[in-house]
Amino acid sequence: MKPHIVIGTMRWGSWGRNLSSDQAAKLLKSCYDENLVKFDLADIYGDYTTESLFGEALKKSGIKRNQLKISTKCGILYPGAHHRVKAYDSSKTHLINSVNNSLKNLNTDYLDVLFIHQQDHLMNFNELETVLTELKLSGKVKHFGVCNFSAYAFKVLYDKFPLVTNQMEFSLIKPGALFNDTLFQSGHYHKKTQIYTPLGNYFTAKNEAAYRLQNELTATAKKYNATIDQILLAWTLKVPYKITPILGSVNIERIKEQIKAFDINLSVEDWYKLLEISRGKPVGGTTQPR
Ligand SMILES: NC(=O)c1ccc[n+]([C@@H]2O[C@H](COP(=O)([O-])OP(=O)(O)OC[C@H]3O[C@@H](n4cnc5c(N)ncnc54)[C@H](OP(=O)(O)O)[C@@H]3O)[C@@H](O)[C@H]2O)c1
Repeated sequence: MKPHIVIGTMRWGSWGRNLSSDQAAKLLKSCYDENLVKFDLADIYGDYTTESLFGEALKKSGIKRNQLKISTKCGILYPGAHHRVKAYDSSKTHLINSVNNSLKNLNTDYLDVLFIHQQDHLMNFNELETVLTELKLSGKVKHFGVCNFSAYAFKVLYDKFPLVTNQMEFSLIKPGALFNDTLFQSGHYHKKTQIYTPLGNYFTAKNEAAYRLQNELTATAKKYNATIDQILLAWTLKVPYKITPILGSVNIERIKEQIKAFDINLSVEDWYKLLEISRGKPVGGTTQPR
């Protein structure tokens, strides 16, 4: 198993490449052959279809279930055929039903990790503790995590129930987690910090920060004899909190190249220079955000 890497599946199905189950099985097998065995899913991916795609691919790949670590998420109601508005639901009924659906879709009888996908504004932390305990005792879920929780909400739940990580968005393009204590908290608890969209949509939907960074990223890539993807990843990996990027590429050759970012150690000044350009201002000052 390669340390500190998870393969994301958000773009495998209809939210991205629209892989057939044969193509998904091939990609799954290619990842497995590279010792990439941790996969990140969510019930809503592909408008509630990507879990089934993955389940089919797993069957076709010939890989045994216990050779993989499969995580999925629930707690978002995604508008479309099933829901008329985007909402969050962390009630007992919704979570139990979601887990049972995910197990069926994924052709498995357990999840390695279940994530609560968002911090529900209507969340009842005591009810959540009860349902997570019930799911754990049933053997249907081995471990639990959350995504996109504030540092305070993570602590409230973590004080009641063990959590493996607070999966958060973090990249050079969107470095906000540096400034709201979620990354710091993750490091403090010695958790692996799973980060999603680690390339900050640099290649898929450039924002202003990405445009500002273009020249410096090209120069830095040249300096370190690397690609821009590798520099973007190396920038996140410099943060000393067991950063575990969730790689979203659907291209195994690209994934293999990106992993080489673990061998790049950006200098402190290069790291801060890139941060400064991304934010459009140097670090410092006494007002938030720093
Ligand atoms: N918890 C949450 O709320 C949450 C939210 C979003 C995502 N996630 C998870 O995080 C995973 C990763 O997120 P992400 O997909 O945004 O990750 P990402 O790795 O930052 O972006 C992947 C995208 O960048 C493209 N790409 C990468 N390198 C490229 C290059 N050199 N040139 C052109 N295109 C390039 C990929 O295209 P190719 O496929 O062609 O390589 C793919 O479309 C998701 O799959 C999902 O599992 C979680």
